[in-house]
Amino acid sequence: MSDDKGYCLWFTGLSGAGKTTITNQLVKELLKRGSKLEVLDGDVVRENLSKGLGFSKEDRDTNIRRIAFVANLLSRNGVPVITAAISPYREIRDEARQMMGDRFIEIYVKASVETCEERDVKGLYAKARSGEIKEFTGVSDPYEEPVDPEITVETEQQSPEESAQQIIGYLEKHGWLKPAVHA
Ligand code: ADX
Repeated sequence: MSDDKGYCLWFTGLSGAGKTTITNQLVKELLKRGSKLEVLDGDVVRENLSKGLGFSKEDRDTNIRRIAFVANLLSRNGVPVITAAISPYREIRDEARQMMGDRFIEIYVKASVETCEERDVKGLYAKARSGEIKEFTGVSDPYEEPVDPEITVETEQQSPEESAQQIIGYLEKHGWLKPAVHA
C-alpha cells in the first residue's frame, strides 16, 4: 500500500454540529501517524480564499466550489484533505464528489438544529433568532442532509474523540490509512 494516497474527508453539517472540533481531533491522530494532511475549514477559507463572500446561495456555492477545487488539486497529488464547511446544498457537494471520484468521502456531522442552538458556541443562533443575522443555516436558510454519505457521525451521542476514531476506522478499513502498529 502506498504511503501517499490522497483522499478528501468532506465534512458537512450545521454550524456548531462539531465539524471543526472533530477535524482538530483527526488532525492530531493523523499527524501522529506521519500522514501528510491539509485542512480547509469554512471559517478560515472565508478569511482568505473566499474573503468578501456572503451567505446567499450564490456565494455559498462559490465558496464550496473553491474549496472543492483546492481539495481536488491536493488530493490528486497524494495529500489527504479535510474540508469543514457547512456545504448546505446537495447539488454542489455532488459536484465535488464528481470531481474527486472515489477520493471523495462524505461525512455527515449530524446534530439537530435544537442541539446546535443549545450549544451555540459562537452565539450566532441567538443572533439568527433575533434577526440580527439573516439567512442563517438551519434557522432561516436551508440545510440539505446528505442522502447516502460514506460516514455519519452522531455528535449528540458520541464524543469528538469517538467520532474521530470512527473515521480513522473507516480509513483503515478502506485502505486509505495503514492500521496503527501497537508495540
Ligand atoms: S457555507 O455555507 O459556505 O458552507 P461556511 O462553512 O463557509 O458556510 O461558513 C459557515 C460559518 O460562517 C459558520 O460556522 C458561522 O461561523 C459563520 N456564519 C456567519 N453567518 C452565517 C450564516 N448566515 N449562515 C451560516 N453560517 C454563518
